Amino acid sequence: MDLASVSADLAALRQRALAAVADADDLKELEAAETAFVGRKQGALTAVLRGIGALPAEDRPRVGAIANEVREAVEEAIAERRARLAAIALEVRLAAERVDVTLPGRPLRRGSLHPLVETTREIARIFGQFGFVVYESPEVETDSLNFQALNIPADHPARDLWDTLYVDAPTNDGDRLLLRTHTSPGQMRVMRQTRPPIRALLPGRCFRHEAVDASHGFEFFQVEGLMVDEGTTMAHLRGLLDEFAHALFGAGRPTRFRPGYYPFTEPSVAFDIQCVVCDGGGCPACGRSGWMTILGAGMVHPVVLRNGGIDPEVYQGFAFGMGIDRIAMLRYGINDIRYFLENDARFLEQF
Ligand code: PHE
Repeated sequence: MDLASVSADLAALRQRALAAVADADDLKELEAAETAFVGRKQGALTAVLRGIGALPAEDRPRVGAIANEVREAVEEAIAERRARLAAIALEVRLAAERVDVTLPGRPLRRGSLHPLVETTREIARIFGQFGFVVYESPEVETDSLNFQALNIPADHPARDLWDTLYVDAPTNDGDRLLLRTHTSPGQMRVMRQTRPPIRALLPGRCFRHEAVDASHGFEFFQVEGLMVDEGTTMAHLRGLLDEFAHALFGAGRPTRFRPGYYPFTEPSVAFDIQCVVCDGGGCPACGRSGWMTILGAGMVHPVVLRNGGIDPEVYQGFAFGMGIDRIAMLRYGINDIRYFLENDARFLEQF
């Protein structure tokens, strides 16, 4: 053992160590190289240093200095490699998690208004231009507001016009609860809570004990109109409904009044528009008559005004009630009322 051979060993060791460090592909390999070459107990460098005692005393500091240099060089290389491996790991991760910001975004799924809601809003918009304001009124109603206050006494045969679904729940005053058969009880609520002049619109869901078919639902929608003021006449009603029909079905669409009957209006009428399918020629859609009835209307019965707390000697009023489903069917050419409440996306997506 002499200085020259120990120096050569250390130089060789340094080379092998640096090569191993450079070859380490991950932290595990790097740590294995660290233990193998510069590990305090088992490392190759330690093994060389153990042999130092066999050297002449004057050579030992020289060998110690070289050994330290080797250790420092190897440890520095390990630190660099460790940093490099960390950087590589980060790059790999970034590449894996890369986001291509140039890709088109996922389209947002937008809903659309239900055709009945859209139609209700359009009706409210048109009447809104004439000063009508939308009110809400409950779907579960009392017998007294749905019928009695509207001039339909308990055993009156006119009740047969509205097949009713009763609610089996007790009330404080013995009044029966039912699912409202029309929006007309809303007239009473508006009259009792506001003063004339009144221009009210009451859209909402109604219910009847009905055999369901393509044109009858047991659940359907109406919008009620009510105007009460001094000097209100049938001419105002006629003019307003004409404006409405023209706004919704086209300017110049012919309209007509036919005599009708409702206990809460006097006189009562049915309001027809010329058939929008055949333009009056006669077709299955209009029963070959050339006309379609879109609402019932009339001058508010004095008894009804009085029940609403309004003096019929001072004020007059008109009211109308139309089926929103029917209007929507005409607007969109829908031939079965049941589509509206079936929640079939294939139907709803078309609007
Ligand atoms: N409520 C009546 C119905 O459901 C419609 C109507 C309303 C008629 C207002 C006249 C006045 O058939």
